[in-house]
Amino acid sequence: MILKDKTIILGVTASIAEYRALELISALKKEGCNIHIALTKEAAQFISPTMFKALTNNDVYCDVLEELDLGSTNITHIALADIADVFVVMPATANIIAKMASGVADDVVSLLSVSTHCPKIIAPAMNSYMYSNSIVQSNIEKLKNAGYLFAGPIEGDLACNAKGIGHIADTQDILDIIKSVFFEKTLTNYKIIVSAGPTQEAIDPVRYITNHSSGKMGFAIAKIAHMMGADVTLVSGPVHIKEAPGVKRVDVKSALDMLTSLKNEIEISNKKTVVIMASAVGDFAPLKYVDKKIKKIDNNNNNINLLLKKNPDLTIEIGNFAKSINKDVKIVGFAAETDDLIENATKKIKSKSLEFIVANDVSRKDIGFNSSENEVSIIYKNGSVEKLHKMEKDDVAYQILKRVEGIKWI
Ligand code: PMT
Repeated sequence: MILKDKTIILGVTASIAEYRALELISALKKEGCNIHIALTKEAAQFISPTMFKALTNNDVYCDVLEELDLGSTNITHIALADIADVFVVMPATANIIAKMASGVADDVVSLLSVSTHCPKIIAPAMNSYMYSNSIVQSNIEKLKNAGYLFAGPIEGDLACNAKGIGHIADTQDILDIIKSVFFEKTLTNYKIIVSAGPTQEAIDPVRYITNHSSGKMGFAIAKIAHMMGADVTLVSGPVHIKEAPGVKRVDVKSALDMLTSLKNEIEISNKKTVVIMASAVGDFAPLKYVDKKIKKIDNNNNNINLLLKKNPDLTIEIGNFAKSINKDVKIVGFAAETDDLIENATKKIKSKSLEFIVANDVSRKDIGFNSSENEVSIIYKNGSVEKLHKMEKDDVAYQILKRVEGIKWI
């Protein structure tokens, strides 16, 4: 919980997307943050300060001359600036972006933009014509060059029944950018290649063999690795989740497709390369692909034989491939077990030449496949075992990546 006990100053300006600030506040509260709200007068006409006060249990800063009891000094914008760990403006109108870009400080939000001395994040929301306006774009460029981080906007529905770019970013993406501020960029010299999700082994044009992997574990590793400064490629089987902004995604279907993409990413990497195999790679594929839909046999024998062949072990294949091109690639594996977790996982470390293996019990419903949390044991080459308590997959990802940092390179 990287945001626990952090103080977030949230500046809110008047926009149809203002209700999304309430969503962000509840997400930040779940992360254990302390949230202070600065609400422009116009924003206070959309949603009352009382609502924000009730959600944050803190007084809401609405008027430049208002003095809130914040302990350190009685000049509110200085006192808030002194306690802020991050300053977020969400939603951010074209007007506030212009003020922030030119250092105007005549309302509570623009005043805090000038007085805060912490990382600053802006989540724009406006009509797409306004967003593409060259002056608005130059204000955004100026703020980016000054180190302000931007979350969105994205394509989506806009006010006045329009569609286009200008829709406020997803709350989870804004939250992830806030979190990214607090991650130490310790993986900047690394290329992290993550495999995620299931593979699909086609039987005929209509049917395939797959498994229950949702991709969440691998996507979390890719997201956190990016937040820690790594250059990240996510090689994913078919899943229904979105990769974090900044992560390169390569979509594959079969185990062989995944192998080809992993090899390619290894070949083009010119950094310290670590492959993290979080995907549930299909161990088998149909011996023969039938290029027409297999008809239901209507004789009285209702059984159909489906001959399967073994898929290559991708982890072993990429290890051999890296050696064949003289690349020192480190590989971290996962072990999906239903029994004898540690014993079965330990066998895989040697057979797959892994740096360490992340073992999870996939017979449990509350962890492993498709869950938001996981409970893993990390087993090292020397046989030592580190059992982690159950936690969000984002936090498991962070723990795995901290151990990637510890891998020894010759
Ligand atoms: O995607 P989620 O819904 O979040 O679920 C997460 C997960 C349960 C899929 C993940 O935590 C996990 O356990 N991934 C590994 C699943 C798996 O295939 O484990 P395994 O014990 O069968 O394989 C061991 C290792 O070899 C894995 O790193 C796997 O990627 C790799 N492998 C497996 C088969 C194969 N033919 N080639 C491989 O490289």
